[in-house]
Amino acid sequence: MQTCDHPVDPSGVADRTIAGSLVTIPENLDSWNTFSSADDASRRSRGARLIAMDASPTAGRSTDEIMRIGLDLGGMTDVPGDSAIYVPGGALRRVMMGIDIGSAELQLAKSLGVDGVIAHHPAGGAAELGFTRVLSRQIDLLVESGVSMARARDVVQPRIAALLLRAQAANHDHVPSVARLLDLPFLNVHLPLDEAGRQLMNQAIDRHVAGLEREPLVSDVVDALRSIPEIRDAPTRVMVPVGRLDNRAGKVVVFHGAGTNGGFAVAEALFAHGVGTVIYIHLAPDDAERLRALPRSDVNVVVSGHIASDMIGINLFVAQLERRGVAVVRMSGL
Ligand SMILES: [Fe+2]
Ligand SMILES: [Fe+2]
Repeated sequence: MQTCDHPVDPSGVADRTIAGSLVTIPENLDSWNTFSSADDASRRSRGARLIAMDASPTAGRSTDEIMRIGLDLGGMTDVPGDSAIYVPGGALRRVMMGIDIGSAELQLAKSLGVDGVIAHHPAGGAAELGFTRVLSRQIDLLVESGVSMARARDVVQPRIAALLLRAQAANHDHVPSVARLLDLPFLNVHLPLDEAGRQLMNQAIDRHVAGLEREPLVSDVVDALRSIPEIRDAPTRVMVPVGRLDNRAGKVVVFHGAGTNGGFAVAEALFAHGVGTVIYIHLAPDDAERLRALPRSDVNVVVSGHIASDMIGINLFVAQLERRGVAVVRMSGL
């Protein structure tokens, strides 16, 4: 099972199909959420180029070193609960990386002859079982945003309890067992890359808002997000499923890098504690519906796009790997 956000909230796909009735539509219809076949073609040709690239003639990097590169990007010292080395290995010169890696992708990697595989989302094992531990980061983000510790715990703990129960259902060793049998070094790096992405999103918003000589509107926040190449060039488009583009943005919180989005409960708590605009990378349509039903016309949720936003941290990571002599075959969202 490729987890991360997905077991909780499969909104990335649903948004694309039903969001027309949910959003404040920006300037024109083709500016949001239309999939471009040209984007797809350029992505495919880029992938083909990378697959054809020769392995770098360096000593390569071990799975431990690759994990460390990810941790450094996220400013972390310890491997978080949602990241793991499933099959350790050394001297990886050429790896395949995808956002979601399952059995088929591991077999593909073997046939491509790469030295190892990196996933972003947890792919089973310790990262799937430890996923709930990183949800406590949601409590940290709430408290940093002005919510009391007691309220933050009340909001997040039911979610953690539900996910712990849900984790009982999964077959955690399915995908790692395939990597072991293929003798293929395999790891996933999740929270550190999302944290790097969150920081970059905050910097982009701060920079954009600092250049305005008026109070920022929600549309300014959308513009700030669109200044990030991964979001600007993505096939998905930034959406405003709650609130209005011409609302004042107020206090803005990027709620990313905490396992998954906070859904209705987190946004409601943030709004009750003075936040005007919450940025999620994705949001379930039902949660958007409930947030729109709040008796508030001054609060907003901006959705930046799951894969587009994941790619912010992932691209930083890939650049570091390539700088250290590890060639990366991109696939599954990269
Ligand atoms: Fe992510
Ligand atoms: Fe993700």
